[in-house]
This record gives sequence, C-alpha cells and structure tokens, in this order.
Amino acid sequence: MDLLARVKEEARKNIQRIVLPEGTEDRTLKAADEIIQEKLAEIILIGNPDVINKKANDFGLKNISKASIVDPISHAKKAEYIAELVELRKHKGMTEEKATTLMENPLYLAVMMIKKGDADGEVAGADNATGDVLRPAFQIVKTKPGVSVVSGAFFMIIPDKSFGDDGLMVFADCAVHPNPTASELAEIAVCTGETAKSIAGIDPRVAMLSFSTKGSAKHEMVDKVVEATRLAKEMAPELKIDGELQSDAAIVPSVAAKKAPESEIAGKANVLVFPTLETGNIAYKLVQRMAKAEAIGPVLQGMAAPINDLSRGCSVSDIVNLVAITASQAQGK
Ligand code: ACO
Repeated sequence: MDLLARVKEEARKNIQRIVLPEGTEDRTLKAADEIIQEKLAEIILIGNPDVINKKANDFGLKNISKASIVDPISHAKKAEYIAELVELRKHKGMTEEKATTLMENPLYLAVMMIKKGDADGEVAGADNATGDVLRPAFQIVKTKPGVSVVSGAFFMIIPDKSFGDDGLMVFADCAVHPNPTASELAEIAVCTGETAKSIAGIDPRVAMLSFSTKGSAKHEMVDKVVEATRLAKEMAPELKIDGELQSDAAIVPSVAAKKAPESEIAGKANVLVFPTLETGNIAYKLVQRMAKAEAIGPVLQGMAAPINDLSRGCSVSDIVNLVAITASQAQGK
C-alpha cells in the first residue's frame, strides 16, 4: 500500500477533529467536502457561515452541511479564547484589545481552538504565507516537551526504488528553521526519525549530512553536524543515526563502502537531515524536479499539536492528503 493510502486508512480508524481556518477559500471547501465524504476527519471550517454555505451550494458540495462552522467574529467561546490569549501572552505585552483583534483572525482562532481542546489539528496555508500560519502556532501551541524547535519534513517518493525504503525517503528540515544550532539540529534529527516511523511506518536510518564524510574536511560547519550527531545519539540512544556524511556516502552503497566502511547507515539511509534550511529546501526541490520525485509535505514536527502548512499553489488533493497526515499525527499525540 502506498504512503497516502496507508495514512488515509489510519486516519479513518480514529476520527480526529481538524480545523481549516481558510474556510471560505475555494480549494479548502472542496477538500473539506471530499474529506467528509471519505470519512478521513471531522471538519471545522472557520469563516462567515453565509459565505461558506453559499459557496458550498454554488459548487454543489453535498457534505459541507456535516462540517462545524465557526464564525470568527461571533462565536460562543470568543470571550474565553480572548482571556486565554491575554493570559498566555501578557509577558509579551498582550492586551485585551490586541487579543480581541487576533482572535478574529482565523489563523489565531484555529490555534486557540487546539490549545483549548476544541480541535485536534489544523491545516492552513492555501491562502496565507508560511510565516503567518506558523507564528500563531509557535506563540500559542508551542513545541512539545523536550523539543525547542519546530521543523518541516518531506516524504520523498523517488521513482528509482533503489533509494531509501523502496524509493521512500524523509528529508528535513526543508521548511522552517533557517540556521539550527548543533543541539537544535539533533532535535530535528530525532523528530524526523519519529516522523518517519509514525507516519511512513519505516524503520528510520538517519544520515546527518555535510560536505564532509567522517572527518574528510575540517570546518566549523562540519563540527556542528558532528556535535549534532553526538547529541542526537544521547537524546535517542535507540535511533539508528550516523554522521557526518556527504549525501553520496549516505545513499550510494559503493561510495559508502569507500568513504564510511564502518558506518551502519552510510549507503542505506532513508532519512536525510540537512545542516541548514537552505540546504534542505534546495535539495528537496531539486530532487522533486530533477529526479521527478513526489514531495509530500512539509509535515511539521516538534509542535505540541499537529499543525501543517500548505503551499499557496496547492491543489484540492494536496489539502485532502495533508489533512489525512495531520489526523494521523493527531492520533499519535
Ligand atoms: N520552532 C519553535 N518556535 C519558533 C521557531 C521554531 N522553528 N521559530 C520561531 N519560534 C518562536 C519564537 O520563539 C517566538 O516565540 P515567542 O513569541 O513566544 O517568544 C515566536 O515563534 C516568533 O518568533 P520570531 O523569531 O519573531 O519568528 P518570526 O516570525 O520572525 O519567524 C518563521 C518564524 C516565520 C518560521 C521564520 O523562521 C521563517 O520565516 N522561516 C522560514 C519559513 C520559510 O519561508 N520556509 C520556506 C518556505 S516553505 C517551503 O518551501 C516548503
């Protein structure tokens, strides 16, 4: 069974409540209809109910009547959510006036619903930039215990099945944290291993990438990856991880045999952890375009609750897929 079919099957087993703050956005509404039809999640749409119902009617969407609709301007829990936001952020200068404005912003409202236990996960970004989706999540839901940074992983489905697990690999961080320290990079590696295991169902073999393999080059950037590998082993002793490795040593057995013959990971890595966001983001896009890989994500990891960001160029099926992945993360939580 392919990755998405497996994730959807899991999502159906224990239905989660996923909030879609861009509830009046056309692709989001069509995706919501399909998600309800396919019984992948319970859907909460944020937006003006008249606009949502009219669009649903215009598009002939039969299932939107089964979604909950939350009007960001007037809903029963508004005062409670405003008070909670003031309490959470008063050390950052949050006032009731500012909190009232923010709680009318669907992206803040969605995150507060999760914080207050009124939703299990969120998918947004069809209409909003990454930073605008992530900031409220960072401020309100925050990271899970023991993790200080959120990062973004991609499932890469590579046509050449000799790579990873039958062509499936996980890359991170490709989406969020520009320049991690060694300890943040170690956290990213551990989180990515968990993501690979919990969502893709694979036994992670993590390669910590660099421009050096096992001391072949000396540079402070290499030192960071060496230290991150050491820390990740300390954080998760059971995780199969090695570094620093160049990308060819990580994924090509003949290169691994020459450059890192002692390594249990070299030549057979299925999880690649990049030293910076620049390298991760560039790499996943090159593999997607040049190797014609399917890139599913970014799946955000390290957050205390599952919140995922879409590309603004997303399709209806991208939204459906990301909701299924988010629901599957919510089950794990
Ligand atoms: N993990 C957890 N918390 C974080 C992180 C992180 N990675 N980054 C910032 N925060 C927290 C901060 O601690 C802060 O919390 P506080 O207000 O409680 O103190 C809050 O978030 C805001 O922090 P800022 O530094 O002000 O965050 P800013 O808004 O400047 O930046 C952002 C955060 C938007 C994620 C930034 O790091 C960014 O732009 N990253 C790149 C995103 C991007 O463009 N990715 C590429 C496109 S995606 C793609 O191609 C798939």
